[in-house]
Order: sequence, then C-alpha cells, then structure tokens
Amino acid sequence: MQKQQERTLLLRFGALPVLFLLLASQGAHADAGAAADAAADVAAAESNLNDKVEVFTVATEPTDGYARYIRSARIYDVKVTTLGLGEHWKGGDMQHPGGGFKVNLLRKAVAPLKDEQDTIVLFTDSYDVIITAKLEEIVELFKESKAKLLFSAEKFCWPDSSLTDAYPEVEGNASRFLNSGAFIGYAPQVNALLEEAIDDMDDDQLYYTKVFLDEARRAKLGMKLDTQSRLFQNLHGAKNDVKLKVDIESNQGILQNVNFLTTPAIVHGNGLSKVDLNAYGNYLAKTFNGICTVCQEYLLELDEQHLPVISLSVIVPMAVPFFDQFLEGIEKINYPKQNLHLLIYSNVELHDADIKSFVNKHGEKYASAKYTLSTDNLDERQGRQLAFDQAKLRKSDYIFFIDGDAHIDDGEVLRELLKLNKQFVAPLFAKYHELWSNFWGALSEGGFYARSHDYVDIVKRDLIGIFNVPHVTSIYLVRSSVFDVLSFQHSEYDADMAMCESLRKAGVFMFISNQRYFGHLVNADNFDTKVARPDFYTLFSNRYDWTEKYIHPNYSEQLNASTVIEQPCPDVYWMAIVTDAFCDDLVAIMENHGTWSDGSNNDNRLEGGYEAVPTRDIHMKQVGLEVLYLKFLELFVRPLQERVFTGYYHNPPRALMNFMVRYRPDEQPSLRPHHDASTYTINIAMNQVDTDYEGGGCRFLRYNCSVTETKKGWMLMHPGRLTHYHEGLLVTKGTRYIMISFIDP
Ligand SMILES: *[C@@H]1O[C@H](CO)[C@@H](O)[C@H](O)[C@H]1NC(C)=O
Ligand SMILES: *[C@@H]1O[C@H](CO)[C@@H](O)[C@H](O)[C@H]1NC(C)=O
Ligand SMILES: *[C@@H]1O[C@H](CO)[C@@H](O)[C@H](O)[C@H]1NC(C)=O
Ligand SMILES: *[C@@H]1O[C@H](CO)[C@@H](O)[C@H](O)[C@H]1NC(C)=O
Repeated sequence: MQKQQERTLLLRFGALPVLFLLLASQGAHADAGAAADAAADVAAAESNLNDKVEVFTVATEPTDGYARYIRSARIYDVKVTTLGLGEHWKGGDMQHPGGGFKVNLLRKAVAPLKDEQDTIVLFTDSYDVIITAKLEEIVELFKESKAKLLFSAEKFCWPDSSLTDAYPEVEGNASRFLNSGAFIGYAPQVNALLEEAIDDMDDDQLYYTKVFLDEARRAKLGMKLDTQSRLFQNLHGAKNDVKLKVDIESNQGILQNVNFLTTPAIVHGNGLSKVDLNAYGNYLAKTFNGICTVCQEYLLELDEQHLPVISLSVIVPMAVPFFDQFLEGIEKINYPKQNLHLLIYSNVELHDADIKSFVNKHGEKYASAKYTLSTDNLDERQGRQLAFDQAKLRKSDYIFFIDGDAHIDDGEVLRELLKLNKQFVAPLFAKYHELWSNFWGALSEGGFYARSHDYVDIVKRDLIGIFNVPHVTSIYLVRSSVFDVLSFQHSEYDADMAMCESLRKAGVFMFISNQRYFGHLVNADNFDTKVARPDFYTLFSNRYDWTEKYIHPNYSEQLNASTVIEQPCPDVYWMAIVTDAFCDDLVAIMENHGTWSDGSNNDNRLEGGYEAVPTRDIHMKQVGLEVLYLKFLELFVRPLQERVFTGYYHNPPRALMNFMVRYRPDEQPSLRPHHDASTYTINIAMNQVDTDYEGGGCRFLRYNCSVTETKKGWMLMHPGRLTHYHEGLLVTKGTRYIMISFIDP
C-alpha cells in the first residue's frame, strides 16, 4: 500500500522526480516547501492593481493553442486584446523566420497609448503561450526588474546566430538571448521600440534583437532581458531548467525554474518546444485541483434532434485476433445508425468474410455502408485516405476512426467524445493490464515514441482527465474543422505518424480522455493466421479476450464456496467451464488436422508405444496446443478442483495426456470399462447430445451410475484410479466429441 502511494506521488519528468499530488494531498515531501512558498507569493500578490495595463496578443485564427491561451488568461483575470483575429496571416510560417506582421499589428494598437507614461503594455504570443499568474503578480515582477522594457530570454541566438557574441554574457544557466514571444514595458518605451518599419514577412525576433544589441538604444529604452526567468519562461532548450510541481495548498500544477527557484508567470513553448508546452499545459492554469477541472469546461450538450453526422471508419490493415468480438463492439456504439456512414477498409483476407456478412446483416440500418476488402489491394495509407475522402464527400461533421485491434467495451464512447467538444479527441485504449496504449506522452528527437512523466498514471487511470498528447492511434474522433490540415501522406512516416505530424504542424491538439473505461486493445503481435481458428491459440498474448470468448460466463460463480456444485454420481462433479465457441473452435482445429488415431493398441505417440484402452483421438501436442492447454488447466480447471476435492493441491497441474476423443457409430462408438492413469480426470463435452448425436455418456460401474444428459461446454471431474472405474456408453447416431485430460498421473 505504501509503495503504491509513493508511486502515485512521485511521477517522473525526465530524470527528475516530480512531486505530484493530484490524487492524494497527504504525505508531505521535501520538495513541497518551495511550492508552498510559491503559493504564498501568489496569495501575497492579490493586492489591488493600481497600474493601467494593456495586454495584447496576436492570433489570426482561433486555434487550439489560442483557446488554451485565452482560457489561461480568463483563469487569472487577465483581459487580453487579440490583434489580427480573422485576418489573413502574412507573417510566414512557424518553421521559418517571419512575424513582422505581429510587430505591425502591435504598433497600430499601441500608438494611441504613446504618451501614457504609467500605462504598462504586455505583449505575448498566443498559440504557444500559457499565462500562469494574475496581472498583479506580473506587474510586480516587471517592476522588480527595474527595466522599462523587459523581454523574455531564451537559450538560443536565433534567427541569426552570428550575433551571439554581441550579447552580454550571462552566468550559470541563465538565458542569454532575446525572445520576441513575450515582453512587457511602459507604453512610451514600447512605442519607441516599434518606431522603425518592418516588412510583414521579416523576422520580429531579429527586429527586436537589433534594438537590444544597439547599446545606446538599449540604455535609452531601459531595455533588459529576463535572463533568470523571473517573469517569462521560454522552453526551447530549457528542459532541465524547469520542473512541473504540484502546489500543496491548491493541489494545482505549477512550473518551476529550478535554477533560479522562480515560478515564471508566462510560459512560452518557443521553437521546437511546442510538445513540451502541451505536456506542461495539461497541468498549468488550474486544469486540475485534485480532480480534472478542465474536464468540466467547454462541454457540448448533444441535441438529440440534430445529432452530428459521423463517418464511422473501420480500418483493418492487419490480421487481428477476436475480430468477431471487435465487430460486436462496433454494433455496441450507442448512436442513431441513420447518422452514421459506415466504411470498413480491410487488407486482410482472413477478415473479408466477416466484414461482408457484418455489412450484409447490419448495413441497412446505417445512413450508408460500404467496404473494401483485401481483393481491392489498397494499402493502409490508401485505406485511410479513402475513408477520409468518403467522410468529406458525405459532408460528415466528424470522422470516427476505429482500428481492428480497438475493442469498444463502452457503447457510450462516441457520445462521450462528442461531449468533450474537441477538434481531435480519442478515448484511452490500452492492452488489457499492460502499459501498451494508443497514445504517446512524448516524442523522441526523431519523432518516435518517448515516455512522459505521466504516461503510466494515465494508462493505469491513476490520474483521470483529458490530456493533450503528441501522438494518438487506433481510435479517434476528428471534427471536420481540421479535415483541411489532416494528412496521411509522408515520405518516411507510416499513416498514423503522418497524421499526427500533420496535426501537430497545424497546431491541432490531440486529446486523449481516460475519464471512463471505454475499451481496450487486443494484442496482434505474433498472431499466427496459418492455423485453423487462430484466436484459440492466443491465450498467452490475449488472456482477457481469450477468457471472454472461451470461458463459460458462469464459470466464476462456481468458485464461490456458497455455490452448490452438481454431483450426478458420487464424487463426480459437473461444472460449466467453456463456451460454445471453445468447443466449436477446438473441434474445428481437430477436424482440420484430421489424422485421428486408428483405435488400435499400437500408439507411437506414447512412450511405450502401447495403449491398453485405445480411442479414436488426437492429442493436443499434435495441433500445437499442449502448452496452452496446460495453462488452461492451471488457470481454470485447478481452482474448481481445489473447490471440490478439498485439500488436494498441485499447482500447476501436470497432464501428459490431453486429447479429443471422437465417437461415432461407424468408427468407434463406445469404450470398454477402464481406470484412468490420473489422480483426477476431466471430461469436457464438446458438442450436444440429442442435437449432434444420440446415445453416449459415461457410466461409473462401482455406483451403477451414468451421466448421459451431458451439456456442451460442461466438464465432468472425477478421481482417476481405484473408485471410478468407468466406461464410454454407446453412441448410436451422429458424432460425439469429448476433451479428456488425465491430470497428475
Ligand atoms: C545548470 O543546470 C544543470 C541542470 O539543471 C545543473 O546540473 C548545473 O549545475 C547548472 N549549472 C550551473 C552553472 O548552475
Ligand atoms: C448462467 O447462470 C444463469 C443463472 O443460473 C442462467 O440463467 C444462465 O442461463 C447461465 N448462462 C449460461 C450461458 O448458461
Ligand atoms: C458468494 O455468493 C454469495 C451468495 O450468492 C454472495 O453473497 C457473495 O457475495 C459471493 N461471494 C463472492 C466473493 O462473490
Ligand atoms: C443399474 O441401474 C440400472 C438403471 O439405472 C438398473 O436398471 C440396473 O438394474 C442397475 N444394476 C445394478 C446391478 O444395480
């Protein structure tokens, strides 16, 4: 228990332990002091704001980043004027220099304030900025700097690194270079700063840099850089400078600069640090206070009369186990089918037939239903593109992608995602009780997977909320507003990575929600499709789905000591153990193998080569299922044995003989009385008397007691030696299959 708590509290960011108290507020920690001090500072700053402050930002489009910025401003009561909203952006793209447009917009906006000596102007970018403090605190930090004009500082000299040496030196881990993403100053100084002309396409950072590096102008303007991140924190190249913490008092996330023990009020994901900012942004600006508060904001109420039209795009690019259950999951989605356009893309022959019959059976209920099969020879990228093109063609409001390994367990998943009101949102899906999931918390340098400090807690749902993450796969809902920027095309990346990159590039946030348990991923690794009934072979890789599909739904009840277990003959117990699917698949596997033994006493499968009481049978070894079946005995049979034969404890059970017997009138219809070479024997009926065959059953001679009304999927368990001398009764019609194990010989 203690361990569990420590793990919850001590999340990791990079190599640094991070104190995280989002779940439990007890249990103080050495690091807590600084966070508490910071909280006290915030409280102290709640004095009256006497200064006139004008806050400006630039955003031509209301991107997700802009929405995050505006939310953070609202949270801290910062009134912002947005410049350029709705205008065509003329400042180049994010990857290249540009931004003169911002300068020109700001110049126009601050011109009227030119003579207001006491007015303070704060400018910040918006798409990649988060405000984390009230204006009072921001102003106080500005005044403490004794500057008239204070710029944020960063670690890189950009865009012209040849200017490096022109900058004043700084000590230790301070930031030496000007960054144009945020600055604050008195109105006259800001006006003076902006007096020279700049082309919309020219670089704003270079423009301001030149002013700063001109010592005379710098002095005249009282211009300084916030090199110790007292007010501004630029994140690019500063990974080791900052640490996400949790404020003890408020249970809220804060970002601390660990070099200078500051809590910067304005955090800027400059340059390549957008993904880092997104990760911090999940916890900054009061998104959590023990519970996810941001989860309750901006929710969409669904109007049942006017529900969005959604393209349901099922993507099956590889063979997956338990595809029948996957399709059941699709049917489970609680949403009017007339609002759903179904398209199934498959590139797997194994699944073609199931897809066809699914669409034939259910297709009519949907607004439209189409499929492409392996015979159409589309690769995954083309398949996704096709689904996407269809969604656009149908003028869908959303496209909901679901891959063949994503099993929906909660039919409310689509409605719940819609309510979250995001451009892109996914439910958390993970392999059952594993850490493999459908999102990445961070990216490596090459754009591949990297673990984030909160990854494990999100996957295990120790931390519940919605999270902005850099990569999502398997199942996600995309609003039509981003159809224009979403792309599956890339020269190096696969379709998933290409899509995520296209969204990151466009500044579209990918959210993942684990607010409910929505479903899970099956494990398709090493899925052998060459065998008959391949699902049956996946107990080790997919224990959860295997159990769901193959273990009788009433199995567990029988482990409860208060459940009475039937005893049709003395010490012969009768229990539900497997499903019809188990029986049907195993019989099919055996019949597909086809080489039943000849029923003679010579049996070269056995060590001595001799069988005293031969049957027509196939051993599990012969179909590659011996190891799996021993696991089945251990997991499912042994607990029942321990219930009915109290005190006998052998774990794991041993069995050298696990085999299916086939009785039929024209082959071997019965078996003479015998003892089994076992401590106990199990005998599972693989098909149904009176439906599949007539006659048959098992008779225990000592008690003159027969079990003839056997039930498919039910198991007889009885002692093997001495008392339970038994015979196989005559099958008069059809074929009877039973699955036998001699346990602990
Ligand atoms: C700079 O920061 C790193 C990592 O936080 C630290 O190990 C190092 O001692 C710091 N250097 C100085 C000069 O403060
Ligand atoms: C499980 O048990 C319940 C109650 O005993 C019964 O109604 C139900 O039919 C059983 N399920 C199956 C699949 O046999
Ligand atoms: C066992 O069954 C009893 C009676 O049905 C029930 O009250 C009890 O909760 C069950 N125990 C477990 C562990 O399921
Ligand atoms: C065995 O049971 C059958 C019917 O259950 C009965 O007809 C028969 O007489 C019994 N045999 C002996 C030896 O008791």
